[in-house]
Amino acid sequence: TGICTFDPGFTSTGACQSSITFIDGNKGILLYRGYTVDDLAEHGDFMDSCFLLLHGELPTEEQKQCFAREVTRHTMVHEQLLRFFQGFKHDAHPMAIMVGVVGALSAFYQLSADIGDPQQREKACMRLISKMPTLAAIAYKTSIGQPIVYPRNDLSYAENFLHMMFALPSERFEVDPVMARAMEVILILHMDHEQNASTSTVRTAGSSQANPFAAIASGIAALWGPAHGGANEAVLRMLEKIGSADKIPEAIARAKNKSDPFRLMGFGHRVYKTYDPRAKIMRKVCHDVLDHLGCRSDPLLEVAMELERVALSDEYFIQRHLYPNVDFYSGITLRALGIPISMYTVLFAVARTVGWVSQWKEMAEEPVPRISRPRQMFTGHMQRPYVPVEERA
Ligand code: CMC
Repeated sequence: TGICTFDPGFTSTGACQSSITFIDGNKGILLYRGYTVDDLAEHGDFMDSCFLLLHGELPTEEQKQCFAREVTRHTMVHEQLLRFFQGFKHDAHPMAIMVGVVGALSAFYQLSADIGDPQQREKACMRLISKMPTLAAIAYKTSIGQPIVYPRNDLSYAENFLHMMFALPSERFEVDPVMARAMEVILILHMDHEQNASTSTVRTAGSSQANPFAAIASGIAALWGPAHGGANEAVLRMLEKIGSADKIPEAIARAKNKSDPFRLMGFGHRVYKTYDPRAKIMRKVCHDVLDHLGCRSDPLLEVAMELERVALSDEYFIQRHLYPNVDFYSGITLRALGIPISMYTVLFAVARTVGWVSQWKEMAEEPVPRISRPRQMFTGHMQRPYVPVEERA
């Protein structure tokens, strides 16, 4: 109709103004509020990056303590919410459960719908950041039929998550510091990535001034797919299918074959046409964890390392700038940490919640709110006469 620009997949449409995250895909740069993710992951901790994304600056010592106290204050979930978990089929995918229960939080926090109130906005952000690990761990414990484990507020965010995932009522649980550090880095690296599919979804849902818990639930739904957050799970499922290093040439050949829909999961990125800076950090953490836990002999991890080597030296991947992405290494690291495959994307959702709420808050604070409403290129019939049923061919 000539009234809009056709941009399928929004590859060149800027849909919002944001001062949160900057990416240079050609140079492989990712900045949270001006700080490289490398520096934040190497020198900082979860609370630093979380506060930074949400409030724009790194916290002072006092702000950090206060913020950490606020995060731990909201880690519990309403006991009534536990009934939701019991209502799901026993083998439900934890992401299906997360879409449901996080959306259901909007029924527990109805005042959050008043997005014009800065205090309510702040509370909704804090509640989401605090409760996501608790909900994720409950989804897991319910799925394996174990009693749920309540949060421990003396532990760090990452340690507490591992505690809620793996502690048993009958045993004393010690958090392994290398595992906790790996978890912390995974959380920092996945926190935000500007206007990816799930974040754009959160902004779109939020632009109608929906309850923020419902807006975040829509982000979880968008994250689930294998082309986005589901990639870390898809990597492991692919490695399981490949099975052994001698099957790698066959997998590479399939990935290159244009008439075969198979793609190497964990390779390539819409924005990065060089090494994903997150993948660089994740690769190191992955190797540290494998060394620490002595699980280099895991056949699947051997397949992963060989696949990385072969793909990085293959013309097809080199020419198309297809490098291993963050999900390739986070998937392998999570396997080494003993996290079940079905929880990988849930973990991504826990981390990305920080980005989602920061972006949602930025959108909600805009002086002139504007509903997201893309146009289309119409390809259907123009107006035509109604045909009575007896005359239809
Ligand atoms: N295996 C084989 N070929 C690939 C792959 C792959 N993983 N990724 C891209 N290609 C080829 C593609 O066939 C095309 O080739 P040609 O030019 O000959 O037709 C070329 O590379 C460009 O691909 P594209 O589909 O135009 O790239 P895109 O920007 O639309 O897709 C992607 C990006 C991430 C969806 C894609 O690379 C992919 O499907 N990767 C596997 C899934 C994956 O790992 N996803 C996680 C992304 S990172 C996590 C996140 O940030 O959410």
